[in-house]
Amino acid sequence: MDKIVSLSRRRGFVFPSSEIYGGIGSTYDYGHYGVLMKNNIRSLWFDSMVRERDDIVALDSAIILNPRVWEASGHVAGFTDPLVDCRTCKLRFRADHLADSQCGRRPSKRPGEHTECDLTEARQFNLMFQTQVGALEGEGSLAYLRPETAQGIFVNFKNVLQLARRKPPFGIAQVGKSFRNEITPGNFLFRMREFEQMEMEFFVPPDEADEWFHYWVDARYRWYMDLGLRESHLRKREHDESERSHYSSATTDLEYLYPIGWSELEGVANRGEYDLTQHTQSSGTKLEYVGPEGERYTPHVIEPAVSIDRILLAFLVDGYDEEVVAERQRTVLRLHPRVAPVKAAILPLIGKSDEMVSSARGLYEELRKRHAVEYDDGGAIGRRYRRQDEIGTPFAFTIDEQTLEDSTVTVRDRDSLAQERLPIGGVRAWLDEALERPSKSPKET
Ligand code: GAP
Repeated sequence: MDKIVSLSRRRGFVFPSSEIYGGIGSTYDYGHYGVLMKNNIRSLWFDSMVRERDDIVALDSAIILNPRVWEASGHVAGFTDPLVDCRTCKLRFRADHLADSQCGRRPSKRPGEHTECDLTEARQFNLMFQTQVGALEGEGSLAYLRPETAQGIFVNFKNVLQLARRKPPFGIAQVGKSFRNEITPGNFLFRMREFEQMEMEFFVPPDEADEWFHYWVDARYRWYMDLGLRESHLRKREHDESERSHYSSATTDLEYLYPIGWSELEGVANRGEYDLTQHTQSSGTKLEYVGPEGERYTPHVIEPAVSIDRILLAFLVDGYDEEVVAERQRTVLRLHPRVAPVKAAILPLIGKSDEMVSSARGLYEELRKRHAVEYDDGGAIGRRYRRQDEIGTPFAFTIDEQTLEDSTVTVRDRDSLAQERLPIGGVRAWLDEALERPSKSPKET
């Protein structure tokens, strides 16, 4: 993990937030390449969920909802973790994670095991951030930052059903920030207090729920495989009854082998009719489907839920590689071309050659109309390649002496380091085609 954190910082993917003030626990800011990569992940998810389907529509609900939403959903009463404080070292721990925590005293042991440890009884700590709406403080102004985007979808069920003229099975997809006052955040982007969720609630006739649950577990697994994640590092894990959330009748996690061990990347849950029933009872608005023959039922909900941050971390871990080439160490991010922040680099071999620069700039201007590409004429060519390797750029087009004679360029492949020559006029079509090709991780042997 340290290598990933260091590369992310060095190359401007991710920085600790408000760093000049000493940061703020487990909150991160994304720099240029981080933003490009997040945009790619978001739009790949959106394409597969919405653009390429007929049965899912998009939504962008507010972050601050009527606080009664969170009472009805069960979050005010139940979205809690058990917490213990140490009166000696003033640290806080999740009571159910003591075995994996370390006490603040040296030599460090598990909380409660050092002679000076003085732990409080466990108490329930609600993970929702509170805020206030309007100028007056008090009961009536209390509101919450959403801890999941899902509830914004449930409370809009009736709107979408009517306005988008949908009939189950159909889904509503939403991407946006969620906030949780995690007691023990950490492990870089894995557990943050502010993260970007991508959730889709799929409303189905009750007797089809099980079938759709398995459909979405498989579909989400395939999505990661198609984007080149190593099969050896992704697995499905069914929750047993004691692990499941209060609303879930079945949950399967897609787990990735992060440096911290197998951990939840994405969860797929069968939420049954829990949410629509809760909001019907609490709001008095019937959230149900009424068919043309007058048949009525409360749809069941299948939910694939994930954060962009955990996906981005999984891709960084999966792609990170070090190797020795021509007696020099090379660090390379072997990202799938569709995930990579920059698709191609355009490099004049000699940065001081006006002709090469002019030809390279021409190619760059042409390619940037369709793709995120980068022009670089500073420093030795080897160093420029290394820089692109570290940010995961899959292809580099180099303009050299021969380009000036026969209008061909070399294309260098990030993973194999193979080089071939192409006519400069064919580069755009070549790149379009290369970005469409299936791609597997060369790390999977
Ligand atoms: N609506 C269901 C829900 O929110 P969850 O398992 O609590 O379920 C869904 O969260 C996904 O959101 C997780 O699988 C993970 O990808 C992401 N996630 C949850 N908490 C996170 C955190 N503190 N930091 C980053 N991602 C988080």
